[in-house]
Amino acid sequence: MNGIKLLSTGSALPRQAVTNDDMAKRVDTSDEWIATRTGIRSRYHCTGDETHTGLCLSAAKQALERSGLTADQIGVCVVATLSQDYLTPAAACLLQRDLGFSEDTVCFDLNAACSGFVYALHTVECLLAAAKRKYGLVVGVEALSRITDFTDRSTCVLFGDGAGAAVVEWREDYPSLHAVLGCRGNQEALYVPGANAPAPSYIHMDGKAVFRFAVEALPRCAKAVVEQAGMTLDQVDRFVFHQANQRIIDFAVKKLGVDPDKCTGNIARTGNTSAASVPLLLDELVTGGVLTSGQKALCVGFGGGLTWAGALLELA
Ligand code: UT7
Repeated sequence: MNGIKLLSTGSALPRQAVTNDDMAKRVDTSDEWIATRTGIRSRYHCTGDETHTGLCLSAAKQALERSGLTADQIGVCVVATLSQDYLTPAAACLLQRDLGFSEDTVCFDLNAACSGFVYALHTVECLLAAAKRKYGLVVGVEALSRITDFTDRSTCVLFGDGAGAAVVEWREDYPSLHAVLGCRGNQEALYVPGANAPAPSYIHMDGKAVFRFAVEALPRCAKAVVEQAGMTLDQVDRFVFHQANQRIIDFAVKKLGVDPDKCTGNIARTGNTSAASVPLLLDELVTGGVLTSGQKALCVGFGGGLTWAGALLELA
């Protein structure tokens, strides 16, 4: 067996928390509607000089510092995102510059929307197996407020900005992530037009279609991971589900029959931060002493693509 374990985490959120009442000043909505339909009470938006690049660097730097490693020990760096400041250079290349990784460090961005962080974890696990240096840095970061249509109440109340990062180590005696990744190509349910598209680069979402997809994909993916690992769901210490909608999580918890106390999240405070959602929660659980050494977290992302991704990550 060979795989990765989690050594440390980091996170960064913009200074400004935007409450549901703040959103109600911009569009025809209410705290009551948003909270009951989604579980969201606030989210963070970049303001002033805050950028995607800045959030990414802060979270990555914190994770690296907490790992006790130096930048030149990192062999692979992957940033999961869909809202980067530049199409090129990749956000991961800017981390190479700003953190000072060696020039032979593999650095690139990956877009699998809300599944991005877990896609990136698996990618890094595979790449580290072949790398000279066995430490990897994985970041999930979004500045979704930059691509949010603040005239569309059905989407703008959902999304927030933030970054989460993880330093991992690959060893021959570490367990595999038992990652289960997938994609069902779909352009209509959730899309953001690119640089060459005629429409503005805003998030467009058919909420109901994505909801239907999510309540099927999340429990299916979680089950597939534990089956692949030869475990049962009750052997999992913590469930780290993408924070898209509390109702989706509640549905999955019920369907899987797992202990709801192992599935607590942070959607009320952070909203949906796409690729940043899983690592932000992971950081909260690790720094809060909820996920402790030797424990396993089942991380599951789902969303645009349409994609899904699950992996069992053990804290070293
Ligand atoms: O991270 C990627 C994955 N994304 C997701 O998993 C999101 C999945 N989808 C969802 O979470 C939900 O579908 C939403 C939260 C986006 C929407 O909830 P819903 O229960 O599906 O509401 P709906 O779209 O069916 O809208 C119901 C009503 C509509 O009014 P009518 O047509 O019934 O009169 C909407 O116009 O709610 C209205 N509405 C709002 N009302 C107040 C939509 N947005 C708002 C709003 N405030 N912000």
